[in-house]
Amino acid sequence: MGQDTISITDNRSGKTIELPIVKGTTGPPVINVASLYKEFGIFTLDEGFTTTASCQSKITFIDGEKGILLYRGYPIDQLAENSHFLEVAYLLLYGELPTEEQYKDYKYHITHHSMFHEGLKKFYDGFRPDAHPMAIMVGVVGALSAFYHDSTDIHDPKHREISAHRLIAKMPTIAAASFKHSVGQPFVYPDNRLGYVDNFLNMMFSVPSESYGVNPVVKDALDKIFILHADHEQNASTSTVRLAGSSQANPFACISSGITALWGPAHGGANEAVLKMLGEIGKPGDIPKFIERAKDKNDPFRLMGFGHRVYKNYDPRAMILKKSCHKVLEELDVHDPNLDTAMKLEELALKDDYFISKKLYPNVDFYSGIILKAIGIPVNMFTVIFALARTVGWISQWAEMIADEGHFRIGRPRQLYTGADTRSYVPMKDRK
Ligand code: ACO
Repeated sequence: MGQDTISITDNRSGKTIELPIVKGTTGPPVINVASLYKEFGIFTLDEGFTTTASCQSKITFIDGEKGILLYRGYPIDQLAENSHFLEVAYLLLYGELPTEEQYKDYKYHITHHSMFHEGLKKFYDGFRPDAHPMAIMVGVVGALSAFYHDSTDIHDPKHREISAHRLIAKMPTIAAASFKHSVGQPFVYPDNRLGYVDNFLNMMFSVPSESYGVNPVVKDALDKIFILHADHEQNASTSTVRLAGSSQANPFACISSGITALWGPAHGGANEAVLKMLGEIGKPGDIPKFIERAKDKNDPFRLMGFGHRVYKNYDPRAMILKKSCHKVLEELDVHDPNLDTAMKLEELALKDDYFISKKLYPNVDFYSGIILKAIGIPVNMFTVIFALARTVGWISQWAEMIADEGHFRIGRPRQLYTGADTRSYVPMKDRK
């Protein structure tokens, strides 16, 4: 039996060709259309990449219809329940869960790369105190390439590994420093005695004049948020990192480009937008008005935290965070009216024909914002937290692409040109 194929006939010429169907481990197979242009002189058009696989990957799998998310084959709920972020980061980067020995060695490297070059601190002074922390992140992470030349040879696997460790290790330090800059407090250095999440919380919230202790419920909730945001296959920011990396740009520059793509409200900026929306809705009694607005084609308003390009079922990450959200609010004794509004909104939207027929369910950002707010993270830091966690996915996807010599080539999409046809230059004096 030969390979499965699909026949395509060009009705203009009557010519038929066979295109190979390629199967992955699971999920829909793909048609390899690489020979279409050679055979028929045509490109494919798929705006928004709704049906186009941009690469082959072994890292993350999503079944949006069933609400399944796997990291290297492991279901996300098992990882959120039993693992912790640093171990998940190892899994994403190296493909397997670490042995005790492997984990000890890797943790040592991550811990000992967490400080950043003192010269980088001067960058922060150049930013206005009211600068959005995502703007600072884009600048500072991009600038890492100016400080760590010794790990930017992308063709050297050791350099790639050191860059990955540096990025995973330094992101919490860079993120916490952008927060400290915005509130006018001194930067807190990383403390090697602390774990990854404790260390981040300490750098965010401790001040020289007071001691700070990490609440284990808060730590657990943040750890889960990090795990759930660590990777999500070929989303907009990951595709941006891959595309930037395909030109052989250095990893720090590539991750910085991922941060810019993540920033928008249709992607990572949605958690910030959810809280703004809940505040705007105000009281649960006003929800129907906003639901009607979301359904109105002539109104640009959308329910933030609802809908997903891939999930056409409950986002499995939202399910995990919903539980975590209740635990945190109870532990911290926070009575957040936004949560009441969120619960009512979810209940009403899930009963509404518009949302049912379009398969619009709450996504991960619907609950993450409420948790982050409760633990004292300011709203403009929400997307930064996302970027911190997603750095693991970005760098794992980048490293996979570079190491895959058989498929690694510059990404260069084609287009359907709809502009003016060839025309002659008209001197200014003759233009109408
Ligand atoms: N509220 C109201 N209607 C919606 C919503 C929403 N949140 N999301 C989608 N729709 C409607 C659209 O109007 C469209 O209706 P139509 O078919 O009648 O034109 C239909 O559902 C499909 O929507 P698209 O925008 O075509 O879906 P797409 O896959 O391109 O967009 C997206 C997905 C961007 C996430 C969208 O659902 C959205 O804007 N959601 C709100 C923002 C959000 O929460 N983003 C976070 C995503 S998760 C993440 O990045 C971690």
